[in-house]
Amino acid sequence: MRGALYNGVEGIIGECGGGLSCATCHCYVDAAWTARVGGPSSPAERELLDGAAAEVRPESRLSCQIAMTAHLDGLVVRLPEKQYD
Ligand code: FES
Repeated sequence: MRGALYNGVEGIIGECGGGLSCATCHCYVDAAWTARVGGPSSPAERELLDGAAAEVRPESRLSCQIAMTAHLDGLVVRLPEKQYD
C-alpha cells in the first residue's frame, strides 16, 4: 500500500494508513505470488473485505498487510475497478 502511494499508483487509496480498518487498499495478488506474500487473506482481512467496494476474489488481499521485501521484487498485483461505492 505504501509503495503504491509513494509511487503514484492510482487505484490504491489507503485511507486508514494501513490500520486494517478501511479496505481501500484492496488488490488482487497474482496466483503465482500467493505463497510469497504470506498466503491468502487473513481472517481479519476477509472480514474487512466483506465491505469492499469491488468484487472480492480468492486472490484478494489488503495491500497494507503485505510486508514488502526484496524477496517480492516483481510482485504482480491487479487493482479492483473501484475502492469506494
Ligand atoms: S489501508 Fe486501510 S485497510 Fe489497508
